[in-house]
Amino acid sequence: MRDGEAIGEGWHAELGDLHAERAALENCRSRGNDPAGATMYVTLEPCAHQGRQPPCVEAILGAGIARLVIGSDDPSEKAAGRGPGILRDGGIEVDFAVGEEASAARLLNQPFRKHARTGLPLVTLKLAMSLDGQTATAAGSSPWISSEQSRALVHRWRAESDAIAVGINTVLTDDPLLTARPDPSGAPCAPTESKRTIGSEVRQPVRVVFDRRARLPLDSRLLRTLDQSPVLVVVGPEADASALRKAGAEVLVADGIEAALADLGRRGITSLFLEGGKTLAVAFQTTGQLDEARTFVAPTLLGADWRAGPVAAGDPPPPAVAKASSAAGPPMAPPARATALCSEARTVGDDVLITARFKEW
Ligand SMILES: NC(=O)c1ccc[n+]([C@@H]2O[C@H](COP(=O)([O-])OP(=O)(O)OC[C@H]3O[C@@H](n4cnc5c(N)ncnc54)[C@H](OP(=O)(O)O)[C@@H]3O)[C@@H](O)[C@H]2O)c1
Repeated sequence: MRDGEAIGEGWHAELGDLHAERAALENCRSRGNDPAGATMYVTLEPCAHQGRQPPCVEAILGAGIARLVIGSDDPSEKAAGRGPGILRDGGIEVDFAVGEEASAARLLNQPFRKHARTGLPLVTLKLAMSLDGQTATAAGSSPWISSEQSRALVHRWRAESDAIAVGINTVLTDDPLLTARPDPSGAPCAPTESKRTIGSEVRQPVRVVFDRRARLPLDSRLLRTLDQSPVLVVVGPEADASALRKAGAEVLVADGIEAALADLGRRGITSLFLEGGKTLAVAFQTTGQLDEARTFVAPTLLGADWRAGPVAAGDPPPPAVAKASSAAGPPMAPPARATALCSEARTVGDDVLITARFKEW
């Protein structure tokens, strides 16, 4: 910025690409502007280490930036204030944003921040439910509960995520594709190597199936579309997953959800969009690994089944808990009640979308 005018802009489009600072400086010069003496605004503390990209502090010092305003700190061990220190030593005036702007910058970077602090991806649960609290439709009927507009939004969220996860029952019931198809015409998006949502190009998330017993059918649509994006199957230590490997799936052997998340984190997955079903959602909640929930409530009755909806004190556990407890894995404790730090509701098509954040990183 100079004299209240933006003379260059940039963002970090994808892992391995130019960091936002270098992209902004490049953009500034490509517009015929000289960044020397300007003020630079960044959402995240500039890095000072050599990673996939050279340190941003070198680019900022080299460009002669006079003042830097930072939206949020970088909680990674290798950052932790080093960048701002080096820039101050180099004569740059460095300020941190406060209040609403600082909070907005932190919220923008939640997947990065959780991954940096814990090594785990940020988990966002999406569920659609009927007015009578059901998340599954009758066998043989359309699997959709929410409106077309809601489903279009879900495709955008998929494209914004590093990975999408479902439980094996969802695959056995619905045989889903789980690709990001934000185009209303339903046209498939560009395959994995393309960039994150820019124009009509959509980066495809990794598709993850939680399948302790390696039951994913070899003729499932997931395995028939490996050219569109990888499929990663999370199996238990006892499972024989040789057929899945042979079919081209990546297999992650993990004893429980936390171990699986740690492995996904090591693979560079910073955001996991959890699409259900309810059994897996309950299992994630039980481990305390839900950071955000996005629930669509559709104005429809699917035929009240008290067991599928909220459970009153003294009721037997819902089938989701009972099923997960009796399945191959160890018995699960019922999930502890989680109350959102903040929530909001809005209408999407005919549905009400409730967004609730449980943790902030
Ligand atoms: N309304 C929505 O938003 C929505 C979204 C998705 C699906 N659905 C519907 O939901 C239904 C399927 O849901 P569901 O609740 O029956 O099953 P699910 O959550 O899709 O899958 C549950 C299965 O996941 C496996 N799993 C793997 N790791 C697990 C772990 N750590 N903890 C618990 N389970 C684990 C278990 O089978 P193993 O023991 O064999 O591994 C378990 O039985 C379908 O009808 C589908 O259409 C609705």
